[in-house]
Amino acid sequence: MSDTDLAALQQEFTTALAAAKDAASAERVKSDWLGRTGKLRSLTEQLGKLPPDQKKARGKAINDLKLACEAAAEARLRELSASGPKAAPADVIDVTLPGARPRLGRRHPIYATMDEMRAIFAKLGFEAAYGPEIETAYYNFVSLNIPLDHPAAEPFDTWYLDDPDAATRPYRFLLRSHTSPVQMHVMEGRKPPIRVVVPGKVFRTDPADASHLPVFHQMEGLMVEENVTFADLKGVLSIAMKELFGAKTETRFRPSFFPFTEPSAEVDVSCLLCGGGGCPACKGSGWIEVLGCGMVHPRVLEYAKIDPEKYSGFAFGMGVERIAMLKLGVPDIRHFIRSHPLFLRQW
Ligand code: PHE
Repeated sequence: MSDTDLAALQQEFTTALAAAKDAASAERVKSDWLGRTGKLRSLTEQLGKLPPDQKKARGKAINDLKLACEAAAEARLRELSASGPKAAPADVIDVTLPGARPRLGRRHPIYATMDEMRAIFAKLGFEAAYGPEIETAYYNFVSLNIPLDHPAAEPFDTWYLDDPDAATRPYRFLLRSHTSPVQMHVMEGRKPPIRVVVPGKVFRTDPADASHLPVFHQMEGLMVEENVTFADLKGVLSIAMKELFGAKTETRFRPSFFPFTEPSAEVDVSCLLCGGGGCPACKGSGWIEVLGCGMVHPRVLEYAKIDPEKYSGFAFGMGVERIAMLKLGVPDIRHFIRSHPLFLRQW
């Protein structure tokens, strides 16, 4: 066999390799040619029959061919394994792939704010208490010194659960319109000293707009002991507001009216944005209203069978959404219930 034949063999091998469409068939071509019983092996065997003067040159030519074929086979295999579809059968699960991770849930900003408020009052000695969301008109109004003909008791902002004419009980059922009825449940259930905060849902028939929702949250506070004065109320709330909004926060008490507290006040905090100088957020006043409060009305203590001659107390109530909007810079209360994933994932 001549050197030209060797060149033809190499060409044939190259063509067979190029025709191999995947690594397995390229391997097969390689072993058909270069394996122990491969085509090139027989060339070496024929070497023995050659005259000694030709043996050396022929041996080298065959060896070169082998090396060239080996290199070509390796190159083709690399090429196929880099580009080829790994072609894992469809029913095989690749356990080395990262799994589908479920997104972790997180606390809703309203509940996170409520937790923070509860923790602040816990440091001041207030424990958390809870009451029913379905109330009677007695707890929601009457025991809090709100006569049933008071405007707040009118069906127009209270969510009554029964028909007035069908009601046979002395008091109608309703969804509580504030957390204040829990004051009464707590006072009925234990003797002073009492220091509680009451976080919870409240319900009003208000249509939703940028600052109202028909279902929102309040946090009530109640302290009843001997010799509790308005100074205690001011002290507790001014410390709590500093904790909640930052150490520079100032507090202002404005006279107000609630049937269940006397005297009553509304509390403003110095504007978080301008610090009191006046800006659009506080409408130029430097103050932002955050809660209502006052000294527990003696008649409310009497309803709870606590002697108003011996004990006094204060109460306060604030809207959690309002506090959260101020702290987080949320301009519209409705964002909290839209559950837009990007909105809720900010915190
Ligand atoms: N319950 C009142 C409200 O819903 C707030 C309040 C609570 C005021 C306690 C004084 C004392 O507006």
